[in-house]
Amino acid sequence: MNAEGRGRLDRTPEWQALAKHREELGEVQLRQLFADDADRAERYTLTVGDLHLDYSKHLVTDETLRLLRELASATGVAALRDAMFRGEKINTTENRAVLHTALRAPESAVITTDGENVVPGVHAVLRKMQVFTDRVRSGDWKGHTGKRIRAVVNIGIGGSDLGPAMAYEALRAYTDRDLTVRFVSNVDGADLHEALRDLDPAETLFIVASKTFTTIETITNATSARAWLLAGLGAGEEAVAKHFVALSTNEAKVREFGIDPCNMFEFWDWVGGRYSYDSAIGLSLMIAIGPDHFREMLAGFHLVDEHFRTAPPERNAPLLLGLLGIWYGNFHGAQSHAVLPYSHYLSKFPAYLQQLDMESNGKSVTRDGERVNWQTGPVVWGTPGTNGQHAYYQLIHQGTELIPADLIGFARPVADLEPGLVAQHDLLMANLFAQGQALAFGKTPEEVASEGVPAELIPHKTFRGNRPTTTILARELTPSVLGQLIALYEHKVFVQGAIWNIDSFDQWGVELGKVLAKRVEPALSASAEVSGLDASTAALVARYRELRGR
Ligand code: F6P
Repeated sequence: MNAEGRGRLDRTPEWQALAKHREELGEVQLRQLFADDADRAERYTLTVGDLHLDYSKHLVTDETLRLLRELASATGVAALRDAMFRGEKINTTENRAVLHTALRAPESAVITTDGENVVPGVHAVLRKMQVFTDRVRSGDWKGHTGKRIRAVVNIGIGGSDLGPAMAYEALRAYTDRDLTVRFVSNVDGADLHEALRDLDPAETLFIVASKTFTTIETITNATSARAWLLAGLGAGEEAVAKHFVALSTNEAKVREFGIDPCNMFEFWDWVGGRYSYDSAIGLSLMIAIGPDHFREMLAGFHLVDEHFRTAPPERNAPLLLGLLGIWYGNFHGAQSHAVLPYSHYLSKFPAYLQQLDMESNGKSVTRDGERVNWQTGPVVWGTPGTNGQHAYYQLIHQGTELIPADLIGFARPVADLEPGLVAQHDLLMANLFAQGQALAFGKTPEEVASEGVPAELIPHKTFRGNRPTTTILARELTPSVLGQLIALYEHKVFVQGAIWNIDSFDQWGVELGKVLAKRVEPALSASAEVSGLDASTAALVARYRELRGR
């Protein structure tokens, strides 16, 4: 069976075999699995580039992994992967190729879609970004009044914000500290207000990032930013050219907004928004970290792309992570997945992954439009350790939900920490290792009793353990390692979407809210007729108008 003409996923022999296996395994005891196999820790690890993955603390046996791989093979994951890399239009509901992997392919690669090799275009835009970046960083690019640029404000939302904002945070140690870089996404005016309040318009560059250049939040914020700039400079439209650039696929709309297409950095419809930060959408990041670091990051992405494309199933890390997610979501009823980076610099990483995973796999019909009969994408959430430990880890340890988690950490802190702070790194990492251990192995009633705990408290202090985690460890959070990490998750999401037979590359679900917001907005002003709203919304709108004195 392959992706075409497949039967219902949950009726396939491979799915049924997994369901049976799950029943036979019953409550897996990680203590037992480790006791039975002295080599488990070693056997259940993978190295990909700089990433070391330990998956020994999962509720799986060799047989589980074998059956999961059979499911992947039966559902045509490898065939769909190859079709993606070849540039076929696997985003069927939008009739588009899915070629974010081309954004980090070497210049010598040939990747064709619609009869055109896309690689030369990718590298031409990268060079244009590089030239512009060098001019901004060196002070050669001047604002309207002749001052150099000292602040860069990226205006975008979703994939046009989360990627560069996350990566800027992740790679702060690599950034030019003399430049202020900010990200504005929310249509709540407070976002732009706070971003601009201490900036000098004469020294500020706005990067308007929008694939479609029609997204209401972005265009509204960009319009307000333009008004702020012109008022601050006391200048006319001619000042815009030195202070506004656009990142988009839509030249006509960029022109309509008043940005000269010479100041536009192009990308293409085969780059999904949530897969776009290594395209022109990464311009703010490139300005912050410099072109060389940006290219190192792309090389990191490419390394994992090649791994995903060529590694055998038993050693294929994105395949493995995708399959483990299927095991918990579809055979243990887990509804969410926690991403817990033990790195302050990865504070925005879970939010980035939320879009990547949930906008991709939050679907309930198959590629053929049939309703799925199996759970698809999980709720993805998390915050950096150790903060989460003092907030919600209690539920992961002792609650009734099974929540598989990824623990991500680095052997070395980033280079520019003061020596005293470097010393704190061991404590940070000790927490990561301790949490993985506690989640997996818990604490038995006997162990609790042996500490002299009174009988009535023993149930409260007992940890059942068997809470699965993947630990991802690397030497240091470098640009390349960040690229490797992101590509790992991108392809994990791909694997799951392929197995669930859903289109991971469209996002029709966000459209309805956008349309309704446009319909509701006029109803909020006093003069407007309030009609076409349901009773609850009409009452809320009426209350809002009253509170606003309208
Ligand atoms: O939220 C829907 C969405 O289309 C995302 O997929 C996308 O990343 C975001 O809006 C922003 O879109 P654009 O880059 O076109 O402004």
